[in-house]
Amino acid sequence: LRDRHLAAIEAARSEEELEAARLAALGKKGEVSLRMRELGRMTPEERKLAGPALNALKETLTEALAARKAALAEAALAARLEAERQDMTLPARPARAGTVHPVSQVTEEIVAIFSDLGFAVAEGPQIETDWHNFDALNIPPDHPARQEHDTFFMHRAEGDERPPHVLRTHTSPVQIRAMLDQGAPIRVIAPGRVYRCDYDQTHTPMFHQVEGLAIDRDISMAHLKWVLEEFCRAFFETPSIELRFRASHFPFTEPSAEVDIRCSWRDGQLKLGEGDDWMEILGSGMVHPKVLEAAGIDPAQWQGFAFGIGIDRLAMLKYGIPDLRAFFDADLRWLRHYGFGA
Ligand code: PHE
Repeated sequence: LRDRHLAAIEAARSEEELEAARLAALGKKGEVSLRMRELGRMTPEERKLAGPALNALKETLTEALAARKAALAEAALAARLEAERQDMTLPARPARAGTVHPVSQVTEEIVAIFSDLGFAVAEGPQIETDWHNFDALNIPPDHPARQEHDTFFMHRAEGDERPPHVLRTHTSPVQIRAMLDQGAPIRVIAPGRVYRCDYDQTHTPMFHQVEGLAIDRDISMAHLKWVLEEFCRAFFETPSIELRFRASHFPFTEPSAEVDIRCSWRDGQLKLGEGDDWMEILGSGMVHPKVLEAAGIDPAQWQGFAFGIGIDRLAMLKYGIPDLRAFFDADLRWLRHYGFGA
């Protein structure tokens, strides 16, 4: 009896087989359990002999079961370790670090340069009210400039009482918000995304501008000129930068000027600060009195300048990138080609 059960326990090759062997010996209907139940029907003499023998048998089998169980667990662990073995000598896969997008890099440079010139950063929403984007900037509803802006309008359900909203077409509404928030004097720039329904090699429906605004007691066009020249010299890292102020028109500035930068195209290469070509880089002017009034500032006491620069255009110039659309294709090969990818 004893050898048979010990052999069955040793032969068990899994937890299930071991459990079957246990039940066969020590389970309710196991052979050993049945024998123990028979003790009650024995004479005292018989019981004195059989009792200790059965108890010893039960103990032996219990120990054998535990030992076999431990052996099976150890074997299972060893098998798992063997199967999941890692080869620590394999070389690591090359990891490519992400980098800051060129437009973000250029924005950071612009912020740093203007911060040196004493300009703080102001912000406004990209979904803007019609009033901030147009009316407050002296562009009333029937003004032709509204057509030129290729505006994305936010849909309004019938009965919606909220004021009409647009995707801001320029960063100029941040002028209004900054003046309403802080009053005068003020010196801020506002970089950010703007939207116009337009798409070709030099236009994308989303692009970036940086607005500049300086209001004080006696700000003049000369200050505007100095700030922009100082900025361009620092940004393009070229001391010989030359700017041309060309009379223009914006409803929110009077007088207004568009600013071109002297450049040359030679062998498909753009060079700044030399040559006979001029490339437009920004719009600017003296803040219109009506704009000051709309923003709660008294035009009899305060005046100032404003400008709006296309950030993507500046990045194209600085890095010699011919197609604006490539900025927003998220093509890593393109980013690496221009030295932006890792
Ligand atoms: N908001 C104008 C544009 O988007 C640029 C501009 C800004 C012009 C500030 C004058 C003053 O074209």
